[in-house]
Amino acid sequence: MTDVAFQRCISPQCGATYGVDEVRTACGACGSLLDVAYDWQRLKPPSKLSWFEQKWSRRYEPLSLSGVWRFHELLPFAPPEKVVTIGEGQTQLHSSPGVAKYVGIAGGRLLLQYEGMNPSGSFKDNGMSAAFTHAHTIGAKRAACASTGNTSASLALYCSVTKLMRAVIFIGSGKISYGKLSQALDYGALTMQVAGDFDDAMQRVQEVSSQLGIYLVNSVNPFRLEGQKTIMYRVLESLRWQVPDWIVVPGGNLGNSSAFGKAFIELHELGLIDKIPRLAVINAAGANTLFELYEHRGLRWNGGKPQEMSSEYYEELDADKKRASTIASAIEINRPVNLNKCLRALDRCRGVVREVTDQEILDAKAQVGAGGLGCEPASAASVAGAKMLVAQGVISPEEQVVCILTGHQLKDPDATVAYHTTDQDQFNKVLGSRGVRRANYANRAVAVPNDLVEIIKAIQLYS
Ligand code: F0G
Repeated sequence: MTDVAFQRCISPQCGATYGVDEVRTACGACGSLLDVAYDWQRLKPPSKLSWFEQKWSRRYEPLSLSGVWRFHELLPFAPPEKVVTIGEGQTQLHSSPGVAKYVGIAGGRLLLQYEGMNPSGSFKDNGMSAAFTHAHTIGAKRAACASTGNTSASLALYCSVTKLMRAVIFIGSGKISYGKLSQALDYGALTMQVAGDFDDAMQRVQEVSSQLGIYLVNSVNPFRLEGQKTIMYRVLESLRWQVPDWIVVPGGNLGNSSAFGKAFIELHELGLIDKIPRLAVINAAGANTLFELYEHRGLRWNGGKPQEMSSEYYEELDADKKRASTIASAIEINRPVNLNKCLRALDRCRGVVREVTDQEILDAKAQVGAGGLGCEPASAASVAGAKMLVAQGVISPEEQVVCILTGHQLKDPDATVAYHTTDQDQFNKVLGSRGVRRANYANRAVAVPNDLVEIIKAIQLYS
């Protein structure tokens, strides 16, 4: 391979390479996932991360403003003139004393990376900008994804803003929150509602895109994950290039965890950081494939030869007719497509995996909301997981912990309103049916008659 950027099979035993101009979601030789790889010797990336600070003074250039492309030198697979950006990645690391106390971490040591501030309201825009850029370089006219909602909202937005491609999205029936569905419809995506769940939609979109030659932007696309690496670059940037002790991230299709692992492995190999943080991936208990395989059955990366246990596990799920089920609909996934890449990340980042219940997710979400940064249920899994790891003594209260808040609160208002409601029927319908018993941190609306005196009395009583 003579190009400075290329695609490479993640299996070290195979290591087959392909050009960046090829559209692939798996290795042609062995079927494994692919990475985007670089010849760093020839590319000569910056020798210090602080080099990127010079971009801050050039914010009038779209590629310096973008929180993805100001790190272009660390994902150099496309020339600048082909880059597609809509201003993604203007996100920040926040401290939240209330959430820190809830989790059990010393004040100021717990930080929240709020990816809900992206243009489509979730972290997906980081990856979409990169996949879209690749699709644009190879001249794609249609792009597709299966989605629990955020990938589809992001793809639909990039298509509607740039008009470079037509979006075709696959969603499961009744499995997508209204905030996300409304985005896809409003942005004009062709929306296929498959009679099934996300795992079904994922399988179908792969078949359809290969038959019809539609560009696939799900996270099996290695270019997507190049964009998601930059979430970690921004975390480091906010910490003035210091590496935190822990990154805690919700796990669904396992794209983020895989991308974060790759980011840190590369930075370490390039000598740009001197330590790799530990990684905690948090599943919802109702969609806990990674937790089950990694923590109970001992599945490991194993030098690139993970034990063949996932297909066996999926057969068990099928035999028991077990489908993913959680209020955190974004991570309601039983067959994570990036499983093996995530195992590699867990290996290199001395990772742990935990599962949290819908009750724990919603209580954590209410704490995040009360701290001023609303998030959707899946995002709060990171906070609930961090709390669990502190309680278990895995994370020490003195360590610096970054939880990733993956999506905006307004993505899923139903879950939030049902949690805070005084209407027991609504609570039971939306949450009770999922084993949520109490809204421990509910902020209930006060019902008052349409009467000035009564309204003033109630305000004085409650404030
Ligand atoms: N959080 C949110 C808000 C998400 O939308 C997703 C994934 C995840 C976490 C899980 O991230 O897949 O990288 O492990 N949503 C996908 C979608 C599946 O279709 O929007 P992951």
